Amino acid sequence: MTMMRYSNDALLALTDAELFAEAQRYLPGGVSATARRNAAVGHPFYIARGDGAHVYDRDGRPYIDLCISHGASLLGHNHPAITAAVRQALDLGIVCAAETEHQIALAKRLSEIVLCAEMARFSSSGTETMMHGLRLARAATGRDKIIKFEGHFHGYSDFLNFSWAPPLDKAGSERQPIPYPESAGIPAQASQTLIVVPFNDPDALEAAFAAHGGEVAALVMEPINYDSGCIPPKPGFVQLCRQVCDRYGALLFFDEVLTAFRVGLGGAQQYLGVTPDLAVLGKAFGAGMPISALVGKREVMMHLRPAGEAEMSGTYLAHLTAVLAASAALEEYSRPGFYEQLDARCEYFFDAFRQLIERSGVKVRLQHVGPRFGLYFGLDPQMPITNYRQAAVQDRAQLLAFVRGCIERGIYFHVAAHHGFSAVHTEADLDRALEAIEGALEDISAFRT
Ligand SMILES: Cc1ncc(COP(=O)(O)O)c(C=O)c1O
Repeated sequence: MTMMRYSNDALLALTDAELFAEAQRYLPGGVSATARRNAAVGHPFYIARGDGAHVYDRDGRPYIDLCISHGASLLGHNHPAITAAVRQALDLGIVCAAETEHQIALAKRLSEIVLCAEMARFSSSGTETMMHGLRLARAATGRDKIIKFEGHFHGYSDFLNFSWAPPLDKAGSERQPIPYPESAGIPAQASQTLIVVPFNDPDALEAAFAAHGGEVAALVMEPINYDSGCIPPKPGFVQLCRQVCDRYGALLFFDEVLTAFRVGLGGAQQYLGVTPDLAVLGKAFGAGMPISALVGKREVMMHLRPAGEAEMSGTYLAHLTAVLAASAALEEYSRPGFYEQLDARCEYFFDAFRQLIERSGVKVRLQHVGPRFGLYFGLDPQMPITNYRQAAVQDRAQLLAFVRGCIERGIYFHVAAHHGFSAVHTEADLDRALEAIEGALEDISAFRT
């Protein structure tokens, strides 16, 4: 029997602008996810395929990818270990909604490499898993309230989709932010269980716990706040988070959707030396396949049904294609020298990038931890950004101009808070990227003068 291959030849013939016009007839806003619109090009950056450090546009032009699937493709695109794992799942018949030995093996491997991961359960996206993690934290503590930091993003579920990018005139005072709903349709009651605190402010954190501590189920945080660019915790701050949680009987809940496997095999908890009670791993975990893990200490995780009373189930939980991909990704990340090479590339790239910024005279602050970085245009290159309020006053028009300049020169950036490269970007790829970055900065510099 000959197999028909699915094709969309009529759409292939359209220009990007025509394709976007067609998209707007059938997809709200012309996109499948809000964040896919790239404001620098006025529509999504349409990608025909990816390979290694490159994505290719619909005309076959290659771009060095500095978005890498918003951080998911840490092994680059089309990595042979990941495609082989997916093929293995296809050969098994795309078995779905069933248990196999592969989920057990993946959970066991995580327990060996991620400090808090005594047990695990897998679902498809960071949003979904954070939603379940929050319910679990509430079930395990018998409390409802949540403390989160301003500028930290934890996906789109109703209880958590607050105050990750609030307009400053609606965000309340700097020391006591007002929970700002990031979408229409979130019930007002959802904010009543939420306390928003500025990041890296020990006094504000202590004050929030002093006021609400006995009712707080969890302190939820990005241990490195990539969703405001790249804001690391100040020395001792995460340790303080651990201490106040212990003092008030609340759970410390790390959202490691972005940090997992990026800042080291054991993620941010290993990097920072603080073990949370619960964590969610995502993005690089599946190396491009949709999977996320809720991991945590046994006494917390055992509250999940059927062991306990907190519900977490679904047809697509722990889908085999993604489970096998994640297992293959962990094997790659575990290879000797993997992080040493990544660190060496970071040093090479970010040293050169800083020199370019200095030479260009453009006011832009660069911050990175590992291969993911934030750029803050219009802000003093020497002045560290330590919280959302500082990040929020950056010059977005300059970021747009920069992204446009890079795309024109064959480097793909998304207009997003954070950017980054993968483990398969070579020094030559990074050199090419630096050349384009230099050109884009020169354009901005010329425009200013
Ligand atoms: C820190 C963090 N948490 C949660 C999410 C949501 O994950 P997903 O996009 O897989 O739903 C993201 C996604 O960008 C994230 O950066």
